[in-house]
Amino acid sequence: MLGTGLIGLSYTMALHGDRSRDRVEVVYSRSEEHARKFANDCGVTRYVTDMRAAIDDPETDTVVVGLPNNLHEEACILAAEAGKAVLCTKPLARTAAEARRILDAVEKAGVFHGYLEDLVYTPKTLKALTSVRNGALGKVLWARSRGTHPGPHSAWFWDKAISGGGAIIDLGCHCVEIARNFIGKDVRPLEVMCWADTQVHPIDVEDHAIGLVKYANGAIGQFEVSWSFRGGMDLRDEVSGTEGTIWLNHWLRTGFEMFTAVGEGGYVAEKAEGTTGWLFPVGDEVGGLGYTAMFTDMFDSIDKQTAPREDFYDGYVVNAIMDAAFKSAMTKQWEPVELAVWRGRDEVEGGVSLTEYDAEHFLIKKEKMPEGRTKLILKEKLSGKVVQRVVE
Ligand SMILES: NC(=O)c1ccc[n+]([C@@H]2O[C@H](COP(=O)([O-])OP(=O)(O)OC[C@H]3O[C@@H](n4cnc5c(N)ncnc54)[C@H](O)[C@@H]3O)[C@@H](O)[C@H]2O)c1
Repeated sequence: MLGTGLIGLSYTMALHGDRSRDRVEVVYSRSEEHARKFANDCGVTRYVTDMRAAIDDPETDTVVVGLPNNLHEEACILAAEAGKAVLCTKPLARTAAEARRILDAVEKAGVFHGYLEDLVYTPKTLKALTSVRNGALGKVLWARSRGTHPGPHSAWFWDKAISGGGAIIDLGCHCVEIARNFIGKDVRPLEVMCWADTQVHPIDVEDHAIGLVKYANGAIGQFEVSWSFRGGMDLRDEVSGTEGTIWLNHWLRTGFEMFTAVGEGGYVAEKAEGTTGWLFPVGDEVGGLGYTAMFTDMFDSIDKQTAPREDFYDGYVVNAIMDAAFKSAMTKQWEPVELAVWRGRDEVEGGVSLTEYDAEHFLIKKEKMPEGRTKLILKEKLSGKVVQRVVE
């Protein structure tokens, strides 16, 4: 386990939870004190202050990267060179160019690589994705994903040289990958239009952004990310298709609502803003955020020698989409997603489909009106005119 911060701890709790067989054998931190405390708290046998020593340790078969974004490349490349499986937290890198170097390194070394994008593994998302893949929503037209909170917990996130960007890099990577999963990861993202601004905090990176990602099949992905949102952490997704809709709420108002005038309820949930008043605690945080199912997929895939749901290629595509978002925020134009490596489909299925009504008309829409009659909106085949017809 590389890193003893928030994600190192969450990952270790998920890995050691539920009587799991998987163990963190060695933990790395620059600070001996942090490493020792983490090892003691989490029941990890060995701790080191040298990253390479953790990676090269004979008991390490898989390297988990939970370090700030600027260190992902170094850590992943060292793991690849050591011939170890490597799992890297999100975002894979600060830019697509950096992500590409990481991808090339693991593929050249032939090691297993997993992209730890937990939010596509939440129990709700996994179930929703199954329904979508079964066709419950028809063709997905619009996948909207929101990740907002009052801002990250460590200084490095706010420093562009280390993080690569603000809310787009930190939270947009989740939203982009959630939308890709619903729309279809084999569908090419074409271009991005993005608004980004620094509304509140005295920082050099964006603390709020909204973006649209246009896909080759006509679908649109929408990300809404903020470090200036008040009220905790809002993680919500909406998916609309030709035949249905899904709304997911992962964090606030998930069915567990508690009022306490005095506090004393303990830790509430990640990024909760208070401990009194109305609260939205999360029963199983590492499960609810998808960490448990994510590591199960990763280690099952390693055992079976298959590819996991999310690998470094996905991380690279996400970085390419975010690069286009940053560019668009500057130019105020749609900017192309530059993907030097594209492994999905290139053919594009047609846009609008026609539903036959009768010999002269296509059906556009049918609606039951309050007085009990049904209104039909039809398109005349010959003239192309849109007409309505009311039936009893
Ligand atoms: N949901 C998620 O998947 C999720 C959530 C939080 C963080 N993350 C990701 O995890 C990574 C770490 O984030 P975090 O929240 O744990 O941050 P953090 O600040 O809580 O912890 C970072 C860790 O890296 C160490 N570190 C910092 N600078 C270092 C350096 N120069 N050399 C070596 N170690 C250094 C710190 O001491 C600490 O142990 C980031 O890439 C972040 O995007 C992912």
